[in-house]
Amino acid sequence: MIAMYDSGLGGLSVWRAVRAALPAWPITYLADQAYCPYGPRSREEIIERALKISRYLISQGATILVVACNTATTAAITAMREEFSLPIVGIEPAIKPAAAMSQTGRIAVLATEYTLASERVQTLLDAHAEGVDVLRRPGHGWVEQVEAGELSSERTRALVRQVVEPLMGENIDHIALGCTHYPFLEPLIREITGDAIRLYDPAEAIARRVDDLIRQHGVDCQGDSYYRFITTADDAGDMAQRLLQLIGHPYPVESQPLN
Ligand code: DGL
Repeated sequence: MIAMYDSGLGGLSVWRAVRAALPAWPITYLADQAYCPYGPRSREEIIERALKISRYLISQGATILVVACNTATTAAITAMREEFSLPIVGIEPAIKPAAAMSQTGRIAVLATEYTLASERVQTLLDAHAEGVDVLRRPGHGWVEQVEAGELSSERTRALVRQVVEPLMGENIDHIALGCTHYPFLEPLIREITGDAIRLYDPAEAIARRVDDLIRQHGVDCQGDSYYRFITTADDAGDMAQRLLQLIGHPYPVESQPLN
């Protein structure tokens, strides 16, 4: 079974792509909503959650694990790979293709403050963005608005405008979306950028990577093909409602407080 997790619902933007690429595989998605957002948390805390969640997902039959969260990948993927032997796929902002395609030599990366300040992003910049100006901008409050299902409210529009409008005077031509919640705000971002700026969501690249790893490792498809959704929040009802809104289907959601 493919297991995926995020601090909350953002990883569903990756779930969509993985499901489309691998329709015959069972997928279990866990949203660590009791601890969302991860952005303001310490590295130690994010690692502790990652290890606990991984152990649980492996106990449920995971044969490949997708960290559908840039912040968790940044903080915890090394510790996860040290502890677990199953294939683990992480996610990082698409700085490489955005920088390579830029005609103006200026791009932006939008992510949590945690991700933006990380060594991982600095390494990506050093390796793939030499000679390109990369403007780093956190989407303040964006994760919370997606969690609340407010994808088009005036408050969300204002929070998006605050970040994206100033970028319009910066001569950038690409924006890398470095947080898995942000693709759900793409319609609001586009209201400002129009088609003048290309947005990069790495979800499809992650799905291809999962597909490749499954072939390379001969990973077993355990269980029937079905989709399971779990939240660490006490009340699973909220997430059930959001699923209809975010991925177009009201799957049942289980609550599993992993304390
Ligand atoms: N979706 C996460 C990411 O990709 C969310 C961040 C958070 O929980 O702060 O970074």
